[in-house]
Amino acid sequence: MKAVVYDRYGPPEVLRIEEVARPVPRDDEVVVRVRAATVNRFDCHTREANRSNGLVISGVSRLVSGIRRPRQPILGTEFAGEVVAAGPKVTRFGAGDRVFGNTALRFGCHAEFTCVPEAALVAPVPAGVGFAEAAAATDGALNALWCLRLAGPVNGRRVLVYGASGAIGTAAVQVAKHFGAQVTAVCGPAGVAVVQAIGADRVIDYTKEDFTSDRDRYFSVFDAVGKESFAHCRGVIEPGGTYLATDGPRNLLLGLWTAHFGDQKVMFKLPPRYTQQDVVLIKELMEAGTYRPVIDRVYPIEDVAEAARYVETQQKIGNVVLAVSDG
Ligand SMILES: NC(=O)c1ccc[n+]([C@@H]2O[C@H](COP(=O)([O-])OP(=O)(O)OC[C@H]3O[C@@H](n4cnc5c(N)ncnc54)[C@H](OP(=O)(O)O)[C@@H]3O)[C@@H](O)[C@H]2O)c1
Repeated sequence: MKAVVYDRYGPPEVLRIEEVARPVPRDDEVVVRVRAATVNRFDCHTREANRSNGLVISGVSRLVSGIRRPRQPILGTEFAGEVVAAGPKVTRFGAGDRVFGNTALRFGCHAEFTCVPEAALVAPVPAGVGFAEAAAATDGALNALWCLRLAGPVNGRRVLVYGASGAIGTAAVQVAKHFGAQVTAVCGPAGVAVVQAIGADRVIDYTKEDFTSDRDRYFSVFDAVGKESFAHCRGVIEPGGTYLATDGPRNLLLGLWTAHFGDQKVMFKLPPRYTQQDVVLIKELMEAGTYRPVIDRVYPIEDVAEAARYVETQQKIGNVVLAVSDG
């Protein structure tokens, strides 16, 4: 099968297309013909062994992915496609089923075929949803669900999503609305129209207005892009409220500290625990029209390095999709 492989950590140029053996499913796994995948920040961070995040994080990244070289030569965590075969213990999926999901640390989606345990992060693609959209559905939404649940019930509360135009941000706006929150979204000028279109109650363009000088207070400030800080935001967080982080070792320490001191909590828990029920919820939200993954660009698989370079600009609006095989 055709796959994007890499055998050393480095820039997008380490990625190449190669013919490799098709994966063989275990008894409890399905083989999915991948129609679409995404190139996301997790792929890019893993490919460069998190070098841009400092030596400590890079060391941890290598411990997880392979000390000298990557153990898994095929990146890609999000997929959508059709089941073409199933192991003998699989009961819920069969050949021809349209499925989508996330392989997380197993990666392997930048390839024509990937194997997924039936109990993993996989669910049927809802009717009327295309493979590109389904492929882009999980990364941001799983993270948004995880973070917003850490905040506690947000129904009727004000939630501010900072970095609302990113993969996590565009999902967080929609998930917070689904949870009944009143959502203020902060993004740059390029994202304003999209963020309005996905249902934010108020959009603040950070090049024109500083939300921290605003009169509004929030039950939760969700930094969906890892560019804010608790110190900068705490003035607009209500007593008993939370700062939800997606990145930054300092937030782990602040999480420990604020669990015992002060009346505002920093919530950042690793590793996130995602379940198949979450993917089923994402499917139901797409079915109901409550959640539509935002797609910025679609690249053919041959242009994977270019796609990765674009993701690394940190300017994408929502998600970048990789068209893997025709269908
Ligand atoms: N997605 C993953 O797989 C993954 C994995 C691990 C960790 N994370 C962490 O999760 C966070 C978000 O990831 P993501 O994939 O959602 O990000 P992303 O999609 O790459 O975010 C891109 C968006 O962020 C906006 N942005 C960039 N700089 C900004 C700033 N200073 N202030 C406000 N907005 C800014 C950009 O719009 P403008 O240029 O218009 O501002 C762009 O729309 C990051 O902290 C990342 O490290 C993500």
